[in-house]
Amino acid sequence: MKQGNFYYKSIKPLLIKLGLERAIDYAAFKKQHLSNRKQNEEFLKQNPDFVLPPDYMLYEAYQLNYQKYFDDVHENWIINEVENYFDFAPHSKVLEWGCGPARLIRNLPNVFPECSFYGTDYNEETINWCSQNIPNITFKLNELNPPLDFQSNFFDLTYNVSVFTHLNETLHYKWMEELARILKSGGLLVLTFHGEVFTRILSPEDQARYLNDEFVEHTSFKDGHRSFASFQPFTFMKKLVAQYGLSIIEHKEGKDHGTWIEQDLLICKKQ
Ligand SMILES: C[S@@+](CC[C@H](N)C(=O)[O-])C[C@H]1O[C@@H](n2cnc3c(N)ncnc32)[C@H](O)[C@@H]1O
Repeated sequence: MKQGNFYYKSIKPLLIKLGLERAIDYAAFKKQHLSNRKQNEEFLKQNPDFVLPPDYMLYEAYQLNYQKYFDDVHENWIINEVENYFDFAPHSKVLEWGCGPARLIRNLPNVFPECSFYGTDYNEETINWCSQNIPNITFKLNELNPPLDFQSNFFDLTYNVSVFTHLNETLHYKWMEELARILKSGGLLVLTFHGEVFTRILSPEDQARYLNDEFVEHTSFKDGHRSFASFQPFTFMKKLVAQYGLSIIEHKEGKDHGTWIEQDLLICKKQ
């Protein structure tokens, strides 16, 4: 959906003030629930033993589509993305920060049983659900602000998908410093962000700011929630990672697929 600057500057803050943005988010959830109902019921018939997260949890972190969640769990996205740089050697320690209901990390212990996997999120219900339902991964709750409950230089690989895209600019600095702290020297940080391809959905004013390498944010009733969106130009990300001792080894630009837009991917190494 394309929403102009007037919406973000005037209407959205008013809706937040009136407490209506949460209601609008809930209505969007209900709409997705209805439109995917048949397909989801069919999935349940075919996969009665597959443990699914509760509906709102799935919607909030991703989309309310059981089959897509199931497919993503088994696709092992991160393995394909890092295969040129990381081999999941035995005893490697891997963290997904902002893991949501474990769409991307859930299956990794089955593929690499000799590695240790960790997932964190600031959503307490999500972390409780993951801890109770997903075996062989250590899940921990964190706050909206750092720190994470790990020693410095602990991880060989940390990754996060569509997490920075829901944080304000100040939190970008705080979290990049924290993610660099917990990574071993030579370790990899993989992340996604709203690359230039996303300017298609911005108002002309925000497009101009983005193309001028300025950080753009659209606030929400709750920082970190899916309705909070930030757009970070590549030049901003490049300076950000360099500031905390990370160097970029790959930048993959996202594509516009018409009905959905892919985020940019950044693979960085700690010096
Ligand atoms: C769009 S969802 C993506 C979830 C998961 N990475 C995936 O791709 O399926 C964003 C996730 O980031 C989490 N999140 C937002 N702010 C966070 C923070 N400060 N620390 C940890 N997790 C956060 C949200 O709770 C949510 O689970």
